[in-house]
Amino acid sequence: MRIPPIIRTKADLRAVVKSWKQEGETVGVVPTMGALHQGHLSLARAAEQACDRVIVTIFVNPKQFNNPEDLENYPRTEEDDARKLAHHRVDAIYCPNPEEIYPDGFCTNVSLSGLTEVLCGAHRPGHFDGVATVVTKLFTQTLADQAFFGEKDFQQLQVVKRLVQDLDLPIEVVGCPTIREEDGLAMSSRNLLLSDRARIKAPALIQALEDMAEGLRNGGTAQELGAEAEKKILTAGFTEVEYLELRACDDLSLQDTPVRESRLLVAAWLAGVRLIDNISV
Ligand code: PAJ
Repeated sequence: MRIPPIIRTKADLRAVVKSWKQEGETVGVVPTMGALHQGHLSLARAAEQACDRVIVTIFVNPKQFNNPEDLENYPRTEEDDARKLAHHRVDAIYCPNPEEIYPDGFCTNVSLSGLTEVLCGAHRPGHFDGVATVVTKLFTQTLADQAFFGEKDFQQLQVVKRLVQDLDLPIEVVGCPTIREEDGLAMSSRNLLLSDRARIKAPALIQALEDMAEGLRNGGTAQELGAEAEKKILTAGFTEVEYLELRACDDLSLQDTPVRESRLLVAAWLAGVRLIDNISV
């Protein structure tokens, strides 16, 4: 077991990546904001299987937080994260110094329309611009051949796929399944913010999604089943359902029945914590 080397500048990163590429090796990147859990580690595993070399990036990206308190409270656990990655075949951890990503005078914004205006984008203004900008930089700094993202953040995955397509970035985006706790709750760094009492209530979210998906498969509509599912989530103790919608996988357009390949997506608040989840229908 060996803790992978931590690289902090793009010059150092480029030097290692260049040496790998000279050997004809392929490079996979797993972008994260740290506080690593089994969901993140499953992406590292997918990268290991597909690529000769693996870089995990850890950068808490200020540009994608629309709430300064949320940014402040975001867990930062670099040493623990590095130790967790020692169990994997990770070749480098890229923890860029902030000025490597946003040097003085930085004024470029990568912004997508449409896809970013619905779901989380409608409730977190500027969030996906922040994601798109940092992901573009992580791609161009690592020069990776493949990038691994979780379906847990399904809208983010679609945004990144579209961005790569639109800007002809020479990288393949690979989506990986959501890893869940035993009771079904999708793993998330934010789960740590839940009290024991709230934690017990949290699986109501995935249960409501599963029940609604079954109803849709049996011919029900999103409108009628959605109202019922929302009631169930609130009765379980959630304080607000931000959205609960059936959307087409590719362009995230709103659907009432799953005639196209569709996804059921939800964001809801439990004891002051915002949880998101989604499943295919
Ligand atoms: P972060 O929330 O740290 O997530 C990093 C990656 O892990 C994302 O691709 C996310 O979808 C994936 N992930 C999180 N929970 C997962 C789970 N339970 N199962 C499978 N994958 C999971 O997403 C971000 O960071 C940032 O927006 C980032 C892309 C790094 C840009 O700053």
